Amino acid sequence: MTESQPPIESLTESEAAAELALLAQEIAHHDAAYHAHDAPEITDAEYDALRRRNAAIEARFPALIRPDSPSARIGGAPESGFAKIRHRVPMLSLDNAFDAAEFAEFCTRAKRFLGRTEPLVFVAEPKIDGLSISLTYEHGRFVRGATRGDGAEGEDVTDNLRTMKSVPDQLHGDAPALIEIRGEVFMTKADFLTLNQSQAEAGAKVFANPRNAAAGSLRQLDVRITAGRPLSLFAYAQGDSSEPVAASHWEYLEWLKARGFEVNPLSRRLGNEADAEAFHQEIGLQRASLAYDIDGVVYKIDDLTLQRRLGFVGRAPRWAIAWKFPAEQATTILRDIRIQVGRTGALTPVAELEPVNVGGVLVARATLHNEDEIARKDIRAGDTVVLQRAGDVIPQIVSVVTERRPEGSEPYRFPDLCPACGSHAVRPPGEVVRRCTGGLICPAQRVERLIHFVSRPAFDIDGLGDKTIQEFYDEGWLHGPADVFRLPEREAEIATREGWGKLSARNLSRAIAARRTIPLERFIFALGIRRIGATNARLLARHYGSYANWLEQMLAARQIGSNERLALGSIIGIGPAIAEELVDFFGEPRNVETLKELAAELTIEDAQQANAADSPIAGKTVVFTGTLETMTRPEAKARAESLGAKVTDSVSKKTDIVVVGADAGSKARKAAELGVRTMTEAEWRELVG
Ligand code: IVH
Repeated sequence: MTESQPPIESLTESEAAAELALLAQEIAHHDAAYHAHDAPEITDAEYDALRRRNAAIEARFPALIRPDSPSARIGGAPESGFAKIRHRVPMLSLDNAFDAAEFAEFCTRAKRFLGRTEPLVFVAEPKIDGLSISLTYEHGRFVRGATRGDGAEGEDVTDNLRTMKSVPDQLHGDAPALIEIRGEVFMTKADFLTLNQSQAEAGAKVFANPRNAAAGSLRQLDVRITAGRPLSLFAYAQGDSSEPVAASHWEYLEWLKARGFEVNPLSRRLGNEADAEAFHQEIGLQRASLAYDIDGVVYKIDDLTLQRRLGFVGRAPRWAIAWKFPAEQATTILRDIRIQVGRTGALTPVAELEPVNVGGVLVARATLHNEDEIARKDIRAGDTVVLQRAGDVIPQIVSVVTERRPEGSEPYRFPDLCPACGSHAVRPPGEVVRRCTGGLICPAQRVERLIHFVSRPAFDIDGLGDKTIQEFYDEGWLHGPADVFRLPEREAEIATREGWGKLSARNLSRAIAARRTIPLERFIFALGIRRIGATNARLLARHYGSYANWLEQMLAARQIGSNERLALGSIIGIGPAIAEELVDFFGEPRNVETLKELAAELTIEDAQQANAADSPIAGKTVVFTGTLETMTRPEAKARAESLGAKVTDSVSKKTDIVVVGADAGSKARKAAELGVRTMTEAEWRELVG
């Protein structure tokens, strides 16, 4: 990004215009990712860098400032789904300072603007990483609440805000006829971790950081969801007011507290710039141990008369600044790259680190995302790496210090065998994640697969709930799916378990026995092969008809370029990506073993051939000969079979139809001799549609 770009002094006017156009686009994209989707793609520091570059180019080429310039815009436009509320006074943003010099510059500018030499009195508040909201009170009653949105107009989240304890419904004591009170809604780090844990358990969205969790929790169309989320609020600013309530910002904070709001208890009034600077350091030391994420300290000139005189420039006030903390970084040694296998079989690389203190938190592990990320950054075992915790709770590896790379180190080779079970781990084209193919036998996935195996649309075994599966698994009774059918042998033992009795154990045995006969499509679905849901399982079952035929064809389809492989990929509704998953599944010998073991326990019922009843070729025996022009031979065969026909290679009296392609030879002659019906490719297409 900006590091690799030319210095602003050397930009020509047309280069500057082009870059401003790009920056407008890029910043708008990141605004939407952050504000509308609660899913930022870059760090705050990277985002700030983009904005600074934009502002710097605009400062040098003011004539090139675009109507859609990011400096005139704040955040993202509101998402649909919520009614819009126009703020009576716009909700603005803050300019940033990144070091003491920039903070001093801000002070100098303000003093110059005011024509003052005496020190400035500030109120300093930790800058919480949450989302800002505006609360409107009429005669002390809470009537409306909105998100910031684009600064002028936000989303109506009144009902959501009403669910929060820290939003008073009625202000204590006297209140003006109308006042807009602003503050930050946030989630503590502990609440964020607990929420994510329960989200993960429920298979629901997991949030990247507390800020996204707070925004995602507040902006819920169903307010009951918001009510169940641990949201907090610190009040810190004022919008419109029908009459003044304070003469200074400090007094305003006191007023807020007396009216029932929480104000950040770390807020301080500081009498001069030196104290302000010292305070930044003090908060910096406390940062890691605070209950919530902060990314800087906000300084506001205390005197409201001075604030009014200073006013605004662009999107930010001249009387306040956010002095950001540097992203928390540290270097350490990466001892090893370990591969974790998730419950769905995804292989995730994790960096095992020499434990290091990053901004007050001891870090021993960092996520490496996926194999491409490792390759892109060329991360190797033994490397010295730069770690960063930027607001996010999960630390990241920013870069490798290649000068410190040990001699003889080799690029990391991502395993193609699952470390949990040794099965092949494959990465379908176009996907970033490599997955273990040993779903049924992989200890990392077994419980999940077993739960799927007995679930309602699969084997549908009453009395085998998720918890029971886990318990029996822990007991060592369930290694693979075939073990389900051996549970009745343990009936007496099961009856003595807590929560069980003779009757319930017997019922379980009966439920299992009742499922020893199963339709082919349910059987295929129960295997939990990736992308083979109920619909695809039905397609396969109907196409292949019997378990024996399916197995035989799938084993043959493992061969690249085999007719069976081509036929599989050309089944209507299946396609090459799904065919690939099946081939991967059957490519793992232990899956085939598991299948055979299972089949030995079961009676798998044949499927009805698709459309057999009403297809014109149902039950007919068809031979294709010669070169077909509009379809491949396997495709033609698959289509015929899916319509209930049997396709054979040689012509006999039993043959019903011979489809004659170009340059057909002996088979066409034999058909004529035997009086078998022949047709051209075009006639065939007409017939089967
Ligand atoms: S005052 C006109 N005070 O920072 C000034 N903002 O970059 C309005 N923030 O949108 C903001 N803590 O989301 C203010 N103590 C604080 C803050 C704070 C966090 C956030 C807020 C705002 C953003 C500005």
